[in-house]
Amino acid sequence: MSNRTVGTWIYQNGGGNIVEEKIVAGLKERGIETMTGLNLRYADVHNDGMFCNGIQMDNLDLFFSYNAGEQSLYQIYLYELLDLHIPIINSFRGFSISEDKMKTDVALKIANIPRTDFYLCHRDETEKLREAINKWDSRAVYKPVDGWGGIGMTLIQSEHDLDQILPFLNQLDIRFFYIERFIDYDGSDYRVDVVDGEAIGCYGRRAKKGDWRTNVTSGGSVFLRELTDELADLAVRAAAAVKLDIAGVDIIFDREREEFIVLEVNGIPAFATPDQESIGLSFNNKKIEKIVELIDRKTSHKK
Ligand SMILES: Nc1ncnc2c1ncn2[C@@H]1O[C@H](COP(=O)(O)OP(=O)(O)O)[C@@H](O)[C@H]1O
Ligand SMILES: [Mg+2]
Repeated sequence: MSNRTVGTWIYQNGGGNIVEEKIVAGLKERGIETMTGLNLRYADVHNDGMFCNGIQMDNLDLFFSYNAGEQSLYQIYLYELLDLHIPIINSFRGFSISEDKMKTDVALKIANIPRTDFYLCHRDETEKLREAINKWDSRAVYKPVDGWGGIGMTLIQSEHDLDQILPFLNQLDIRFFYIERFIDYDGSDYRVDVVDGEAIGCYGRRAKKGDWRTNVTSGGSVFLRELTDELADLAVRAAAAVKLDIAGVDIIFDREREEFIVLEVNGIPAFATPDQESIGLSFNNKKIEKIVELIDRKTSHKK
């Protein structure tokens, strides 16, 4: 019997099931047994511990959570609880910073990593918001701090735009406004995958004509891009700042300030889909190998 057992919850669509099989096989080669499909949505906790699908979660040597799909408040609560007792990849701390754009910007700022300027204020302080936007020549992006896929973001290009959206935002049940300086860039970005402090690979996304967002969900398209040392270094530093073992770092080139900036750090960056692999995004296996190595190392005291 293996003396190390880890649990996983890995997305299954877009080739996730194949990735899972490879991770399980890689761990097995290193003498580590894997319990898959541990969705905390179905877990419960009582005097004897936390149980999911008949597995005692707090007895596992490590939990690998890799599913950006539905993360309910219940799952997040159990994630936080479990993280107090066993190692989790990513740690709850890293997960919660990366899930929040404002917390990410602050972490990047503290680590001195180039990023966009940002501003947060109470919903009743719209005058302060106006001042901040004026400082940026009235070009800003309003973002929900916990959004994804480019959804719910609004480009503000004049004070008039702000006057137009404020009544709308005031109807929403929000406590604060979070805005960023709009970056003048060429409509394409760099996604650099990082595992355990090493940049694994890079690809880019190009915004659909007429859109300022590069997200695939907003019509953006994926293309191959070279990973330079400068991008690799920036991405590795950003992942560390956000305390993520595994990260997908989004970078754009600010044409006005002539520097690369980190726009976002994703804690559950998808592997290349079979379609993307066929256009040459070929670093899935390298990423899987690094993840297996990382899990092995983090559980090695039990070897
Ligand atoms: N401050 C900004 N300036 C210019 N473009 C931005 C800015 N913030 C976001 N974008 C564009 O919008 C896209 C989505 O924003 P992002 O912060 O990554 O949120 P999401 O989690 O929805 O992907 C980015 O990939 C980029 O193309
Ligand atoms: Mg993004």
